Amino acid sequence: MLNVENVYKTFNMGTVNEKTALSGISLRLKEGEFVTVIGGNGAGKSSLLSAVAGVYGIDSGKIEIGGTDVTKFPEHKRAAYIGRVFQDPMTGTAANMGIEENLALAKRRGNRRGLRWGVSHAEREEYRARLAEFELGLEDRLTSKVGLLSGGQRQALTLIMATLKRPKLLLLDEHTAALDPKTAAKVLELSDRIVKNDNLTTMMVTHNMRDAIAHGERLIMLYEGKIIIDIAGDEKKRLKTKDLLEMFENLSGSEEADGGLLL
Ligand SMILES: Nc1ncnc2c1ncn2[C@@H]1O[C@H](COP(=O)(O)OP(=O)(O)OP(=O)(O)O)[C@@H](O)[C@H]1O
Ligand SMILES: [Mg+2]
Repeated sequence: MLNVENVYKTFNMGTVNEKTALSGISLRLKEGEFVTVIGGNGAGKSSLLSAVAGVYGIDSGKIEIGGTDVTKFPEHKRAAYIGRVFQDPMTGTAANMGIEENLALAKRRGNRRGLRWGVSHAEREEYRARLAEFELGLEDRLTSKVGLLSGGQRQALTLIMATLKRPKLLLLDEHTAALDPKTAAKVLELSDRIVKNDNLTTMMVTHNMRDAIAHGERLIMLYEGKIIIDIAGDEKKRLKTKDLLEMFENLSGSEEADGGLLL
C-alpha cells in the first residue's frame, strides 16, 4: 500500500542551516499493516510523514501509494489517499463549527463540486451512528461547537474525520502527546479499533516506547534520517522497552536515549 524508495530530503541545502532530514529511507507497508515509528528529537519522523503526505517535494527517491506513483503529486492531490492526525488537538477541526459540520467537511473533502452547506437527515444519522460506535458521548451533541469539546474529544473527532473516507494511508504524528495519560490511552484504543475495523494501513509516530510496543504489528526506529531498527511479528510482541533502549544505544553509538524517547 505504501512504497517509499530511497528517499532523501535536505532542508536549506547549501546554507549554514543545511539539514538532512531523510537520508535514503526505504519502507514498504502492506495493506492493513500498522507500524509504529519512534526515534529521538530531529530523527526525521515528522519529515517522513510529511514527505509521504507531500507537504514538500523530496530531493530524490520515489513514493507510491496503493500502486500509484505520487512522488510528483502536490499535497492536495495526495490528500485523497491520506488521513492525518497531528499532535495539536486544535489543528484537525474547525472550532467555531459544529460536530456534524466538521464531519460533513471531512466527508466532502476532495469533492470537486465544493461545499454544499447543510447536513442532510441521512448524513446526520450516519454521523450519529459512527460517533455512537466510539462511546464518546458525542452522538447527542451533533450541533455543539467543536471549540467546546475537550482536547481528547477533539482528537477523537479528528481521528474519526481523518478516517471517514477510509483513506489508503493513515498518518498519526504524536496524536496523543498533548493529552493527559488517561485520555491518551482512550484515543489510542480508539485508533486501534478504527485501524482494525477498517483494515487501514497506518504509520503512528510516538515518543512513548510502551505505546510503540503495545500498538501495531511492526515497529521502526529512525536515527539521523535512516531506519535503524525494523521489527515485526513475534519479535515485536516479545520486545521490552529496555531492549529498545539498548538497541538505540548500540546502533546509534550514543547514550542519548533519554526522556526524548521515553515519556
Ligand atoms: N520545514 C523544515 N525546514 C527546515 N528544517 C526542517 C524542517 N522540517 C524538519 N527540519 C529539520 O529536519 C530534521 C528532522 O526533523 P523532524 O521534524 O522530521 O524530526 P522528528 O523526528 O519528527 O522530531 P520530533 O520528535 O522532535 O518531532 C530536524 O533537524 C529538523 O530541524
Ligand atoms: Mg516530529
